[in-house]
Amino acid sequence: MSGAPELEAAVPTPGAADRAPQVREMFDTLAPRYDLGNRVLSLGLDQPWRRKAMAALGDTAQGDVLDLCAGTLDLTQALLAFGPRSITAVDFAQKMLDAGRSKIPDDAPVTLVCADARTLPLEDDSVDAIICGFGLRNVPEVGKALDECARVLRPGGRLVVLEFFQPTTWLSRLLQSTYNRIIMPMVGGLVTGFREAYAYLAGSIEAFETRPDFEALVAARGFTVEGRDLFPPVASIVSGTRT
Ligand SMILES: C[S@@+](CC[C@H](N)C(=O)[O-])C[C@H]1O[C@@H](n2cnc3c(N)ncnc32)[C@H](O)[C@@H]1O
Repeated sequence: MSGAPELEAAVPTPGAADRAPQVREMFDTLAPRYDLGNRVLSLGLDQPWRRKAMAALGDTAQGDVLDLCAGTLDLTQALLAFGPRSITAVDFAQKMLDAGRSKIPDDAPVTLVCADARTLPLEDDSVDAIICGFGLRNVPEVGKALDECARVLRPGGRLVVLEFFQPTTWLSRLLQSTYNRIIMPMVGGLVTGFREAYAYLAGSIEAFETRPDFEALVAARGFTVEGRDLFPPVASIVSGTRT
């Protein structure tokens, strides 16, 4: 079976403590084909999931918003409809940000910043809302990124994480193992020409925290936390208010 011309780059080992450089190289390589892969692989479900995540920001979406691990700026673009005062879109793969730049009108209050989620170049107490879509499971030392979220959020600010957590129920395990191990690498490979990236992305779900364990990490940083699974029960939202 032939598909898109092949892409090649170093691919990280899911869960490896030192994987950040390979994660960045992989996303920089995937960048021009990332959106297409997303739409095909999520069967269009990613857009309703993103809408639910943005709704969980409540009124804070009208303040200063950080789109963390912003990638090709789908959330940044959609957040503009909420009338935010500003959006800072942070990602450490410059080519992902570059691939999304054309989605953002020139006069929108958006700043693109190439930086690591574990060392945010933002002032303490400088944002009202943080949203992170499918980013944190790629970040080694995820606790450091959460420390940074707590540092830059104003008291009363909201953190919303949309993510694929390690499945815990039999149904989510069944859905995820079939989908992740077989369909994602095969279809992702055909559509983008970078099968290894989708094998990594699938493996990174099993190597990530469960939702309850992740909620505990967030709560330990001074957030009141709630979490819920979306439909179908593969993606989840964890949201918290900084006390
Ligand atoms: C699966 S993509 C998600 C992009 C986007 N948020 C979305 O919803 O489509 C994950 C993104 O996280 C970024 N990322 C991974 N580790 C990071 C880190 N340590 N610091 C900043 N960005 C990171 C990657 O470069 C990539 O663009």
